[in-house]
Amino acid sequence: MPLNSKSDGLLGVEHLYVHIPFCPKICPYCSFYKEASDRNKVQGFLDALLIELDRFDPGRLSVQTIFFGGGTPSALSPSQLDFLLAGLRTRVDLTNLKEWTLEMNPATVSAEKASLLLSLGVNRISIGVQSWDSEILQRLGRVHSAAQARRSYDILRAAGFENVNLDLIFGVPGQSRGQWMETLRETVALGPNHISAYCLTYEEDTEFFRRFQTGEFRQNSNEDAEFFAATMDFLGEHGFEQYEISNYAQPERDCLHNLAYWHGKDYLGLGPSAFSTVGDHRWQNIADTQSYITRAALGDSTRTFEEHLENATRESERIIFGLRTNEGILRSKIVDHEAELDDLEKAGYLEARGDRVRLTRAGRLVADEIGTLFV
Ligand SMILES: C[S@@+](CC[C@H](N)C(=O)[O-])C[C@H]1O[C@@H](n2cnc3c(N)ncnc32)[C@H](O)[C@@H]1O
Ligand code: SF4
Repeated sequence: MPLNSKSDGLLGVEHLYVHIPFCPKICPYCSFYKEASDRNKVQGFLDALLIELDRFDPGRLSVQTIFFGGGTPSALSPSQLDFLLAGLRTRVDLTNLKEWTLEMNPATVSAEKASLLLSLGVNRISIGVQSWDSEILQRLGRVHSAAQARRSYDILRAAGFENVNLDLIFGVPGQSRGQWMETLRETVALGPNHISAYCLTYEEDTEFFRRFQTGEFRQNSNEDAEFFAATMDFLGEHGFEQYEISNYAQPERDCLHNLAYWHGKDYLGLGPSAFSTVGDHRWQNIADTQSYITRAALGDSTRTFEEHLENATRESERIIFGLRTNEGILRSKIVDHEAELDDLEKAGYLEARGDRVRLTRAGRLVADEIGTLFV
């Protein structure tokens, strides 16, 4: 199949991801594809994104969800955001749009950006707060203070955003249970609509991974499980439903874009490192911003990898992602993994609910290990 062709059958794709690879400062634990903001590169990058989008004949795209992730989309200036979002608005059919999320780092929020984003159609903001504790923020190498995160939240609410997520991280080296519970308390007191609470992962090729390998940082999986259990209890008591292992929402505030991934829906991803899955076809763009810009400008493919998805792969993914969600998976759709599901049910990690199965509380505590059974 020709690379970046218009013959990818995009008709019917309802979910669009756009990767913005710039950050105000690189965090030592993060393995997302990103680089420090570079003013000289940004316009070329924005042009490249629109060139990539144009190759798909975007007038045929009618999307329900858009997710601007990164990196840090809010690292773009108001005029850059205006150029990109307005460019997208004129190309893609947004009449069925339900949710448009943009990720923001608290250091890059302003009232001007907030009102601009709202006016361009963004209706959900995800803020990378991570912690309300200054010692922990410092250990994570964050560029913002807790007070700045608080101000950003207030700015976004004052601008009129009614759907706001806060990202948090637990299991940070040296973080006490008390510090984590205080972060949860302060978060709930602010009243966000959604909370993503991630256990710190030591990702390869990060500074934290090197410090983990030298023994300076240690991971205590029992302690992580305790933090996780306390999180489920606390957020549950405060009206947040855990609809996925790391994600908690007020009623009707689940993230529709992420649910689409977990339900195995097709999605188109634009920008360096972004994946797309359409039918049985998956591809990834090159994870190098300059190459991405150059290739797009020259009319070359921006892809670095393509594969044909076997049915078995799609089934494994359906199980792995589906089991992470509260609603679980339809048992009748599982063909190859009946035995594993039976074993997990007997061990108390899975429970049947009508024609579906889902993880029990005990299963949620070992969800990552369970996922590996289906790879
Ligand atoms: C793309 S970032 C969010 C926006 C923005 N870049 C920021 O950091 O404020 C997505 C989220 O992933 C989480 N994250 C990143 N690296 C992680 C790691 N190694 N372990 C756990 N969570 C991580 C953080 O909570 C972060 O907010
Ligand atoms: S956590 Fe966010 S701000 Fe930090 S490097 Fe990763 S993407 Fe950038």
